Amino acid sequence: MGISEVIKKRRSVRSYKSDPIPEEDLRKILDAGRWAPSSGNTQPLEMVVIRKQKTKKKLVKAARGQSFIAQAPVVVVICANIPRTERKYGERGRNLYIIQDTAAATQNILLMAYELGYATCWIGSFIDKEVEKIIEAPEKIRPLALIPIGKPARIPKTPHKRNLDEIVHEEKLRSRR
Ligand SMILES: Cc1cc2nc3c(=O)[nH]c(=O)nc-3n(C[C@H](O)[C@H](O)[C@H](O)COP(=O)(O)O)c2cc1C
Repeated sequence: MGISEVIKKRRSVRSYKSDPIPEEDLRKILDAGRWAPSSGNTQPLEMVVIRKQKTKKKLVKAARGQSFIAQAPVVVVICANIPRTERKYGERGRNLYIIQDTAAATQNILLMAYELGYATCWIGSFIDKEVEKIIEAPEKIRPLALIPIGKPARIPKTPHKRNLDEIVHEEKLRSRR
């Protein structure tokens, strides 16, 4: 599959089969995160792989009841190691770059998973403190996304995406309604 097809066909899937993910596939998916760009190559990405059902149930609760998370055989908690970026970039590193760095890694993971035939969903709605407790995150490690990964049980239709001409502006940003 070419990159444009992967980019366009990936969907946020919220229903998974329980089939286990072969370790080799999981490693390829997670490795895609490692290759993402990061601010000054500070690489703040840390990932926690959750396989235990009991722990997934806790994540569901932390994610305000998004029960489909527990259907996936694996859930990855994407975290930022704040000091790695903060050391180099201070406040901007702490407040902005760690979010951008881990977002780039998250997208790489979603795309690689799709290429290998797996479904994912980027989960950003969760209670930080609860997730920190579940993964026993040390201070200065911030969870930024949860990614359930599994074979899709139901693939949603492509949602509406804004037209390119609506979001591309020439020279100056002109507001449109
Ligand atoms: C930062 C971020 C946070 C998100 N949080 C959630 C979430 O908590 N739960 C969920 O079901 N989907 C979540 N999504 C997925 C979006 O709803 C989804 O990407 C959007 O509806 C477009 O659909 P598509 O991914 O299939 O193109 C999130 C996506 C992003 C980028």
